[in-house]
Amino acid sequence: MSIINLIAIDGPAASGKSTLAELIAKKLNYFFFDTGVMYRAVTLAALDNVTDLDNESLVTEVANRIQIDVQPASKQDGRVMDILVDGKDITWQIRTPEVDHNVSKVSAYAGVRKAMTDQQRRIGERGNMVMVGRDIGTVVFPDAKHKIYLEASPEERARRRYVEVQKRGESISYEDILTSIRKRDDLDSSRAVAPLKPADDAYVIDSDGKTIDVVLQEALQILGKPVS
Ligand code: CDP
Repeated sequence: MSIINLIAIDGPAASGKSTLAELIAKKLNYFFFDTGVMYRAVTLAALDNVTDLDNESLVTEVANRIQIDVQPASKQDGRVMDILVDGKDITWQIRTPEVDHNVSKVSAYAGVRKAMTDQQRRIGERGNMVMVGRDIGTVVFPDAKHKIYLEASPEERARRRYVEVQKRGESISYEDILTSIRKRDDLDSSRAVAPLKPADDAYVIDSDGKTIDVVLQEALQILGKPVS
């Protein structure tokens, strides 16, 4: 599927993909779409509706049934956009440690991935979009014009996530975040369907020790856009 002006950004948990994507989108006047929120929304709905998340067919039913929507931010509480499931605002509920803990299991289910991938392709066809996830450059849009794979060490990523959760006033330790990130990395990279890995033609940026500004400049150069 050939898509006009779609920038795919993939990478592991808390590598700074969303922050980078948002800045690129603003700069180019593109739409920013974070596919992670969809897997998080399915996980939240499954936690509310299915007693056993090991039951793949029940979780897949939930993924096929719910209506996930993103809308411009309706509140100024640090959100980039509103995330809705069946009309209900779940923007912050999808960021809890419980969702973090279960999201990689739910996202490994083939039926869940199919449901989400179909929706992501429909959304991406609009073009002029920066789409962020784990498998955008490899599976969802393998013909994307530009692909970036953003990585950083688990320690650096845990530090960044720790600052984020502290800002939100949540009490979770750095060590717990690091453990959760490592576990998700493992599950996301080893799953059978659409594992986390750079596409062969992706440009890999290692953001360890780099400010977001430096990463943005590097990305804009790759995209062939003016950097200032
Ligand atoms: O923000 P963070 O990097 O922590 O994670 P996220 O992008 O919100 O994604 C949460 C989880 O959803 C990941 O750990 C993956 O298990 C899954 N995911 C996926 O499988 N495929 C995607 N395209 C996006 C997310």
